[in-house]
Amino acid sequence: MAEAVVLVSGAGGGIGGAAARRFAAGGWRVVATDLSPDVLEPRLVAGALAIAGDLRSVAECRRIVGEAVAAGGRLDCLVNAAGLWTEGPADETREEDFDRVLGVNVKGLYFLSSAAIPHLERTEGSIVNLSSDAGLQGNTGAAVYCASKGAVSNLTRALALELAPRGVRVNAVCPADVDTPMLRYQAETFGGGDPEGYRRRLLDGYPQKQRARFLRADEVAELIFFLAQPSAAAITGANLSIDFGLSAGI
Ligand SMILES: NC(=O)c1ccc[n+]([C@@H]2O[C@H](COP(=O)([O-])OP(=O)(O)OC[C@H]3O[C@@H](n4cnc5c(N)ncnc54)[C@H](O)[C@@H]3O)[C@@H](O)[C@H]2O)c1
Repeated sequence: MAEAVVLVSGAGGGIGGAAARRFAAGGWRVVATDLSPDVLEPRLVAGALAIAGDLRSVAECRRIVGEAVAAGGRLDCLVNAAGLWTEGPADETREEDFDRVLGVNVKGLYFLSSAAIPHLERTEGSIVNLSSDAGLQGNTGAAVYCASKGAVSNLTRALALELAPRGVRVNAVCPADVDTPMLRYQAETFGGGDPEGYRRRLLDGYPQKQRARFLRADEVAELIFFLAQPSAAAITGANLSIDFGLSAGI
């Protein structure tokens, strides 16, 4: 069989970068996409093809998938790991922040998936979306991000049903806080000048209390990689939590 090919969005980021490394270690050919070559370069795995592009444009989503398939000759998995965070009181939300976050987290993910479908059908491949615990429950003060991840979790279910007869599986992983550039951005931008305090408050909400820690990106990548395997053939339409029980209840 020809080498399986994965397209990873947000591959210049923490989880996308770790996913790219996991697939490469598993013998897959990796096509990595992110906003710019500068963002992609530091995390590029050996032998990977890099394609820069802005997922907020539907035309760009189509171009990225087209170039990935042209280079790889096939597409077996799409990992949608590009994403943005915002938070703040809902009565102060700026239209541009709403559009930016929904534009990447929902629209970009949706149209990258849409463009990939015919190619995934040929290989009986799969899509793995990055949702969040915030896709399964509300996070106080993060209504815009929750709106975006709730959309990801439910479009995952709808796409899984639609594509099942065509042999394509669609799943989402729902991590709690992962130690990545996004988490650093959150703490620095919204921590009121006390990023450590922000991080501490997040961990205080975990069932483990004093023993709580942030996820590592490679732990999330392992679950993503598992979902792309033939051994996960019975799993589609799932939102799999990897969150130390954060979304299990109170
Ligand atoms: N870090 C966490 O705590 C956490 C928890 C749960 C879910 N997630 C989700 O996992 C995914 C990956 O998060 P991460 O922590 O690796 O974040 P990250 O900030 O490290 O990486 C995200 C990447 O997305 C890229 N991106 C942003 N806008 C883009 C655009 N318009 N076009 C193309 N690429 C764009 C960024 O350049 C960045 O490299 C996101 O969807 C995030 O919401 C993260």
